[in-house]
Formats: sequence, structure tokens, C-alpha cells
Amino acid sequence: MLDRIERIRLSALEALGAVKNLQELENVRVRFLARKGEIAEQFDRLKDVPPEERPPLGKALNELRTSVQSAFEQKKAGLENANPREQASIDFTLPGHKQWMGSKHPITQTLDEIKRIFTRMGFTVATGPEIEDDYHNFEALNFPPDHPARDMQDTFFISDKILLRTHTSPVQIRVMEQQKPPVRVIVPGRCYRNEAISARSYCLFHQVEGLYVDVGVTFSELKGTLVAFAKQLYGADTRYRFRPSYFPFTEPSAEMDISCFICAGKGCRVCKQTGWLEILGCGMVDPNVYRFVGYDPEKYAGYAFGMGIERMAMLRYGIDDIRMFFDNDIRFLKQF
Ligand code: PHE
Repeated sequence: MLDRIERIRLSALEALGAVKNLQELENVRVRFLARKGEIAEQFDRLKDVPPEERPPLGKALNELRTSVQSAFEQKKAGLENANPREQASIDFTLPGHKQWMGSKHPITQTLDEIKRIFTRMGFTVATGPEIEDDYHNFEALNFPPDHPARDMQDTFFISDKILLRTHTSPVQIRVMEQQKPPVRVIVPGRCYRNEAISARSYCLFHQVEGLYVDVGVTFSELKGTLVAFAKQLYGADTRYRFRPSYFPFTEPSAEMDISCFICAGKGCRVCKQTGWLEILGCGMVDPNVYRFVGYDPEKYAGYAFGMGIERMAMLRYGIDDIRMFFDNDIRFLKQF
């Protein structure tokens, strides 16, 4: 009978191990622990056993009942604590949800590329404040007070003398105030203008400024640098042209155009039907600017340029509306 008790213990534990829900657990209880169950049946048999054999058998049966009972309670507690939703719905074979990695904004990507090209040509990167004073944004760049050239840049004023910078050129002044020639820097950053918002212009935009001052710097070096840059960014067969222009802080001044990629030069909304896109302003630093920063205009010469990043990125990616850069529409951003 001891053998029989051991077999019942094994089959009870095995049955409990296989139980997956409360219904199956109840079936196991009925089979082993109930009043007509297998264990009770063995207790009934005790009366047929000779009296002297009963004590060890009774003890073994009691142990069997306690151990099956406690295994049963454990299983029951486990099933009751399990979250019923999880129990019912986890399917480990389902494929997972795809996590979207963010991507770099097209403006950042274009800026990175521009920085890469110029740093390879020996420029270092400098930065300056977006909230500027009148002196650095205008006066030291040779915009006299009340000069009409200030009208070219519709300015957001914070107070009489403090404003949101309208270009990155004030950083030219800040760099030269702190450093003697040779100076060869590019300055990426945000600029602000109070312009009518359209497909071509927005109140916030990005520029990269360039400044190179040393002994004997020439206009042809300026052209060579900018053409090398444009061909690296837009491809070797990019067409370009320089037009004379005016900036108070450069003399002579020019603007550089490249052929419009969007319409291949045929004329479209972005290039205002001209086939050309103005990408930057440039020129030789005006001697008056050197006087503001304490450089000797007889000794040094240099060039400066400034380009709008939004326009560069529009060309690069064939985007025909500048406002898309600022909408933060995930359907747009995901494409880059
Ligand atoms: N700062 C000028 C602008 O915003 C661009 C420029 C920079 C022109 C440097 C010449 C030299 O329009």
C-alpha cells in the first residue's frame, strides 16, 4: 500500500503541474482531494489492514494529503494572481511593433554638409548670440544710424538697441573683436526677419556666414572658394553666376546664383520664373568694418559671405515651400 500512496503522490503532483486554469484545477481537486477522491479512498482502505500495520500507513497517508493539499493551494494562488487579460491575450509568436527612429531635420543635415565642406577647406566654426545689439547687427557692419540699408532687413526689435539678429554677420564683428588675423571661420545660426510669410520667406531662417581675413586675400580667392563649395554641395555640373550687389559691410559686393534644380532653369514658383536661385551674398570686407574692430585696413584684406540654409536645402531636396521646414509635419520629416 505504501507503493500505491507514492504513485498517488506522483500522479497528483504531475496533474497539478499540467493545470492551466481554475477549471482544470478543480478537476484535480475532485480527483485527489475530494471526499470521494483517491486519497480519501486510501483512508477508507485502512480499516481492512491488520491493526498493527495501520499506524505507519496512516502517517504516510496524512503526509500525502498535506503535501497534495499544499501543492494545490500554491497552484491556486498562482492562477488567481495572474492577470486574466495577459493570460488570455499574449501571443509570443506575433511580430513586434516597429519603433521609428527619429531622423535629422533636413536643415540640420544641410548645415552638417556645409560645415563638412568648409572645415575641410580650413575654416573653423564660430557662433554668436541670436539676441543682438544694434551695434553688432548694424553699426559696426557699417550701417550708419538712419541709413536706408537698414530697410533691407525688417527687424524684430526687443527694445531700442536690442533686437533679434537679422543675419549672422554680427558674429564677424564678435570674432574680429576677439582675434587677430588670420581669421578663417564659418558661423552657422538662426536669424529673424519681420517678413511677409510666403513659399520663399519665413520670419525665422538659418544662415551660414563665412569670414576670411589675412594679408593679401583677393576677390578671386572668394570666387574660387564659393564655386568649389557649390560644386561639392550640388554636383560638378552646377551652373553659377555672380552678380554685382550691395552690402554696407563689403566692397565690392556680389550675389551668387546657381541654376534652379527644381525646374532645371525653366522657371518656377521658387525661382520666381528666372531659372536662377540666389544662394548667397558676398564681397570683400569694407575697410570701415576693420576700423570698428581695430584691424589695420592698410595691412589686411578679407572676404565674407552669407548664405541662407533653407534655400540650400530646398534646392538639395527639391522642396518648393520654405514653410514645410517649420511645420514639423511628421509625414514631411520622415522622408529625410
Ligand atoms: N548678411 C548678409 C545678408 O543677410 C549676407 C552677406 C554676408 C553678404 C556676408 C555679404 C557678406 O543678406
